[in-house]
Amino acid sequence: MTVIAIDGTAASGKGTLARRLADAYGFDHLDTGLLYRAVGLAVLRAGGDPEDPIAGLAAVLALDLGALGDQDLRGDAAAQAASRVSAIPGVRTALLDFQRAFAGRKPGAVLDGRDIGTVICPDAPAKVFVTATLETRAERRWKELLQRGHEAIYTEVFDDLRQRDERDRRRAVAPLVPASDAFLLDTSQLTADQVFDQALAFVSRRI
Ligand code: C5P
Repeated sequence: MTVIAIDGTAASGKGTLARRLADAYGFDHLDTGLLYRAVGLAVLRAGGDPEDPIAGLAAVLALDLGALGDQDLRGDAAAQAASRVSAIPGVRTALLDFQRAFAGRKPGAVLDGRDIGTVICPDAPAKVFVTATLETRAERRWKELLQRGHEAIYTEVFDDLRQRDERDRRRAVAPLVPASDAFLLDTSQLTADQVFDQALAFVSRRI
């Protein structure tokens, strides 16, 4: 299995890193956060509560996995709803097979998320855990949202990331934690190029 597992905190730069590694190796890339965002948004649109397991399960079972790219899932509402539905064990289980099948793609795959190295692909040969200070991540995400045309207030972005990280770390199923064999990469003081170079140096020794 040639899988590169990229996990980490929200807005740490893991998505950019995952895309660049996928390009470098010619692998397919899956941003698994989009799965949870799509489920969360579907619950909101149906007028449900993202913490309600029944609403979460109904949404995940109705999810059109082929149409993920068709929606704008980047906003704060989708992120907060994602972080709530993702704590529902049945929602995570329902998304497991799709992620594992993606991980089996040839010649290889890069998946980024929170539990790729710990739960989805514990045997992945190369695992990177990406993080950065909350301030750094909030500033990056805030600028990214503005660039994408979203209305964004820095303090709200900061609070969103803080709450989501806390929820992701504390949940009982698949909590956000580095795999014991992951390369820990703090991107606070690094440019995107430096992040890529350091990750590539590690990954190239593993695959
Ligand atoms: O990565 P992103 O910020 O898009 O993820 C949105 C939310 O989805 C996260 O805060 C987390 O709660 C959840 N998530 C997860 N497991 C993943 C990917 C995302 O629980 N593999």
